[in-house]
Amino acid sequence: MTTLKNDLLLRTLRGEATERTPVWMMRQAGRYLPDYMKLRRQYSFFERCQTPELAAEITIQPVDQIGVDAAIIFSDILVVPQAMGMEVQLVESKGPFLPEPIKKSGDLERLMIPDVEERLGYVFEALRLTKRNLDGRVPLIGFAGAPWTLLCYMVQGQGSKTFDGAKAFCYTQPATAHRLLQMITDTTIAYLKGQARAGADAVQIFDSWGGLLGPEDFETFSLTYIRQIVAALKDVVPTIVFAKGAWHSLEQMAATGAQGLGIDWCIRPQMARELAGANVALQGNFDPAKLLSPIPVIRKEVTAMLDAFRGYPHIANLGHGILPDVPVDHAKAFVETVKNYKHGTN
Ligand code: CP3
Repeated sequence: MTTLKNDLLLRTLRGEATERTPVWMMRQAGRYLPDYMKLRRQYSFFERCQTPELAAEITIQPVDQIGVDAAIIFSDILVVPQAMGMEVQLVESKGPFLPEPIKKSGDLERLMIPDVEERLGYVFEALRLTKRNLDGRVPLIGFAGAPWTLLCYMVQGQGSKTFDGAKAFCYTQPATAHRLLQMITDTTIAYLKGQARAGADAVQIFDSWGGLLGPEDFETFSLTYIRQIVAALKDVVPTIVFAKGAWHSLEQMAATGAQGLGIDWCIRPQMARELAGANVALQGNFDPAKLLSPIPVIRKEVTAMLDAFRGYPHIANLGHGILPDVPVDHAKAFVETVKNYKHGTN
């Protein structure tokens, strides 16, 4: 096994003080990169995910071109519903589309808890190849969607700002919702364990729609299942939980034992730290739209963010995925400002 030349991310997740803050960006492999756009014109989205050589190449692009301290495997959270038996399409300029969403208890008969090696082995192959090609330069992050966020797409059948259909399903058919959430959870545990076996150095659970639920419902329909996943991975791989908008439950999320918690830009770092406690690494929380500001403004605002997180384990990141129209130079300015930040002097 190659030893890592840059393990800042992993040391920060262990709660160690490091010489500088590690930095990566959610959705860093993607549409703001011209080399990604070239491959995007040649191959469909799922071709890019399912061809290990392409996935590995796309995963490494931001390491080479932006200088981030971690790679995140190029894939999508929706490969899990696909592996469970649902058809998933990505429609140009419209986003994900699942033509036969789950509506009632009988629909669960169409789903399976798959053999992940058989149905998602291509992700493991992509991780192994990426790991080999990275040659220890930076750690490799694996990921999965949180069960609640996957339920949103599996029930609603497409993206939505409110996911009312998914919420109505949970509130009117809670027993069926919980059966579905448990099936997703069991699949996700096997899937993330497989990612760790294939070389993922850390894994992130994306609960992009966690913030749509009030605190009680977040506990009932989301955190209950995230907790199971974190517990199952406890001795396997470090885990980062990112539940966008669910800052009200940071204390409960820290209590899951996750090593890292992602936060968005709508909470002050100091308040997040008070809620999460001193031990967990906090990840975030730059407003992705601020990468559209002039570069000097980006530098100033990133420095202010780093100041606000000082004194405790912090992974610099955006508060959500990078936007497609961000100029490459602006993404680089974000990363470079973090790398040049002097911990001792200000
Ligand atoms: O971080 C990375 O660079 C790794 C790749 C990654 C993708 N999707 C690739 C992708 C990751 C981590 C994801 C996670 C994901 N997918 C989430 C959680 C994170 C988040 O942003 O909230 C969600 C909700 C999805 C579902 C999804 N996939 C949507 C809503 C869309 C369409 C909208 C969009 O952002 O483009 C996708 C497609 C998708 N997944 C693209 C990429 C690069 C765009 C495909 C393309 O146009 O090339």
